[in-house]
Amino acid sequence: MNQNKKIPVILDGDPGHDDAIAWVLASTIPDFDIKAITTVAGNQTLEKVTYNARRIVSLLHLDIEVAKGRNRPLVSDLIIAPNFHGETGLDGPRLPEPDHELSKLSAIEMMEKVLRESEEKVTIISTGAQTNVAALLLAHPELKEKIGRISTMGGGLRNGNWTAGAEFNILVDPEAAYTIAHSGLPLQMCGLDVTEQAIVYPEDWERIRALNNPVAKVVAEWFDFFFIHMKSLGWKGCCTHDPCAVMSLVWPEIFDIRDYYVDIELSGRYCRGATVADYNGSSGNKPNFRCVVGLDRQKFVDKLVEACASFEGWEF
Ligand code: RIB
Ligand code: CA
Repeated sequence: MNQNKKIPVILDGDPGHDDAIAWVLASTIPDFDIKAITTVAGNQTLEKVTYNARRIVSLLHLDIEVAKGRNRPLVSDLIIAPNFHGETGLDGPRLPEPDHELSKLSAIEMMEKVLRESEEKVTIISTGAQTNVAALLLAHPELKEKIGRISTMGGGLRNGNWTAGAEFNILVDPEAAYTIAHSGLPLQMCGLDVTEQAIVYPEDWERIRALNNPVAKVVAEWFDFFFIHMKSLGWKGCCTHDPCAVMSLVWPEIFDIRDYYVDIELSGRYCRGATVADYNGSSGNKPNFRCVVGLDRQKFVDKLVEACASFEGWEF
C-alpha cells in the first residue's frame, strides 16, 4: 500500500454476511478513504441488500453515501442466496436503522462522480456480482484511467460453489465478469481457491464476541447465522469469502498471489460462469489477474479480530 497518500476506495457488494464483515474490516483500514458504497443484487434482491448496506453504514458511523445499483445482471436472470444469508440477506443480529438518506445517484452515476472527482486513482473492491463495475466500464471507458485496481471476490480456478464449475458471484453475471476480465485494468481475484481456505472457526469468532463491543458482538452473530447453512453443508467453520478481497490488498504478505491469464466461460450447459486459468502460458495470453490462491489462515483471523477490537467503546 502507498505509505504516503490515502487510497480512495469504492465498496461494491451485495451484503450478505461476508460483505458486511469485509466492510467492517475496510472501515478500519487507515490507508483507505472510502468514497462510496454501491449495491448490487445477488445474495438478496437489490432492495434488501441496499437496506442492509445503509444499516451497516449506520452501525459503523460512516459518513458515506450508499448508491443503489443494478437490480439484475447484464444478461442473465437474477439468482439469489437466501439459503446462506436469510430472507433479509443479513439475518441474525439487530442492526440500527439507516441514518443517511439513500443517494439520489445510481451506483454507476456515483462511481462516475467519484472517479471524475478523485485526484488519485480509485480502487474498487467488488464483493458481489460484478454488474455495476462492468456497467461503469461499458458506459464510461474514458474513466478506466482513473481506476487503480479492481479487487474482486469471485470465481474459483479449481471448483465452483453454486455449480460444480462456477462460483456464485461470477455465475450471477458471467458477462459482467467477462467485461472486467478483458478490461485491461489491474485486477486482483480472490476466488474460492483462497476463500475456502479462509475458514473462520467457532472458536475464532468467540474471540471476536469476547471483545465485548457492539460491533464485535454483531460480527460474531453474523458468523453465528452464516455458520447455520455452512454447517449443514459439512463445513467446520465459515468460508469468509469477501474480507479476502479487502485484506489481500492491504496485507498481501499473508497471501499466496500468482499471476495468471484467466477467462470466463459464457456458454456450456454445465460450466457457464467458470473462471478458467492458463497456468502454463499455453494460451499465449499475458496474465490479466493477480490470483490470490492461498493464505496464512491464522494471520487472516487475527486481522479480523484486530479490526473488531478497534470498536472498543462503540455505541449504536
Ligand atoms: O461465493 C461467495 C460469494 O457469493 C460471496 O461474495 C458471498 O457474499 C456471495 O455474494
Ligand atoms: Ca458478496
